[in-house]
Amino acid sequence: MDRIKITGGNKLSGTIPISGAKNAALPLMIASLLTDDRLTLKNVPNLADVNLLARILRNHGVDLAVDGKRAGPVAYLGETFHLTARDIVDTTAPYEMVSRMRASFWVLGPLIARMRKARVSLPGGCAIGTRPVDLHLTGLKALGAELDIDGGYVLARAPNGLVGNRVTFPKVSVGATHNVLMAAALAKGETLIENAAREPEIGDVAECLTKMGVEIEGIGTSTLRIQGKPRLEGAIHSVLPDRIETGTFAFAVAAAGGDVILQGACGRHLQAALDTLSRTGATVETVEGGIRVARNGAEISPVTLETQPFPGFPTDLQAQMMALVTRADGNSVIRETIFENRFMHVQELARLGADIQLHGDTATIKGVKTLRGAPVMATDLRASVSLVIAGLMADGETMINRVYHLDRGFERLEEKLSRCGADVTRVTEG
Ligand code: UD1
Repeated sequence: MDRIKITGGNKLSGTIPISGAKNAALPLMIASLLTDDRLTLKNVPNLADVNLLARILRNHGVDLAVDGKRAGPVAYLGETFHLTARDIVDTTAPYEMVSRMRASFWVLGPLIARMRKARVSLPGGCAIGTRPVDLHLTGLKALGAELDIDGGYVLARAPNGLVGNRVTFPKVSVGATHNVLMAAALAKGETLIENAAREPEIGDVAECLTKMGVEIEGIGTSTLRIQGKPRLEGAIHSVLPDRIETGTFAFAVAAAGGDVILQGACGRHLQAALDTLSRTGATVETVEGGIRVARNGAEISPVTLETQPFPGFPTDLQAQMMALVTRADGNSVIRETIFENRFMHVQELARLGADIQLHGDTATIKGVKTLRGAPVMATDLRASVSLVIAGLMADGETMINRVYHLDRGFERLEEKLSRCGADVTRVTEG
């Protein structure tokens, strides 16, 4: 099993190319189920989660051809996927697959909308909290889906097709918004989604659906008005840049010190995170083609923040910010409001010498002068990359075990960092 070895202390300088967003690529790939025509997606990141979803979609009968070459060290364009769901041969998404990646549950809406039936495994628990799917189910029921749960599967039927309706979410959910938005694209008439998630990845999917022939008003807002169509066309769409990868590298530069351009990054997609980063004392500025982040010698100032749905500070960057402020000059307070158990990184950061007290949903981080390298364990995707950030700041060697969590969501992480001067290597055994 691969491990990542980091020897801390090196500053970072140079350019890091930002990949396409995992959290947009996944629902965009799923949107291919909505048409018998070809959907071409450009700038798809090469990640374990993308490859797993490709297997799931192939299982449904989607034909997937990949082209696009790995590019040079700086100008990096991801792969191009051509997805054609001409014949959907299987409307079951099995437990063995859905349980490995929660986002694959989002095939439910498109399958019911197109095939009028689906059998999709419930995703089950996960390391960061209970993560129910009630909002997905009530949203799809509102469009006329008949749903039963049996043997851990959602059995869905819509013998006469889905019909547009008003769906008011009591709570903001990215996944439920994706699921209902994609189902509404093929539903008869108008669907109004209120309290929709406003994450940029939802906007990216909505833009792609528009290219496929759906009329959507309110893209980027919490009210989406969708005019469904009986048949969608193919389209060509480029996946937007990954704002979580952007924020992660931005925080890494602030942690290690140095001066780096995040090429292809879009600041508007993570303004709250960049504003918080500025408050720690780092320089953050928009430059042509990306974002520049620098910290040269300045102390790290402590911060107080709480995670919120977009446009607030993203939960997917909470662990990384916590890693940065472990070395702040004072006490920081971080409240996690989205996922109740998303503090798995706290114990691992403590192994490096961080001083963190947890009370319910709130962590108080007392800045320490130095971290010291140690063996640590990656527990989930974002937690594991927070250990990379801490390792860059720590004296000596940090060995991160179970890096398959990192490979789910970060493309060529060690390569991108080491090109900027970090001492990061992958240790492959066996
Ligand atoms: C997506 C992202 C994930 C991110 C999260 C929040 C992808 C592939 N994943 O996950 O990286 O951390 O958004 O920004 O894009 N909830 C319910 N009932 C539901 C659905 C959700 O109560 O039916 C709750 C969840 O438990 C959580 C909150 O709503 O407390 C937000 O979850 P949601 O936005 O749905 O997260 P995901 O779509 O799973």
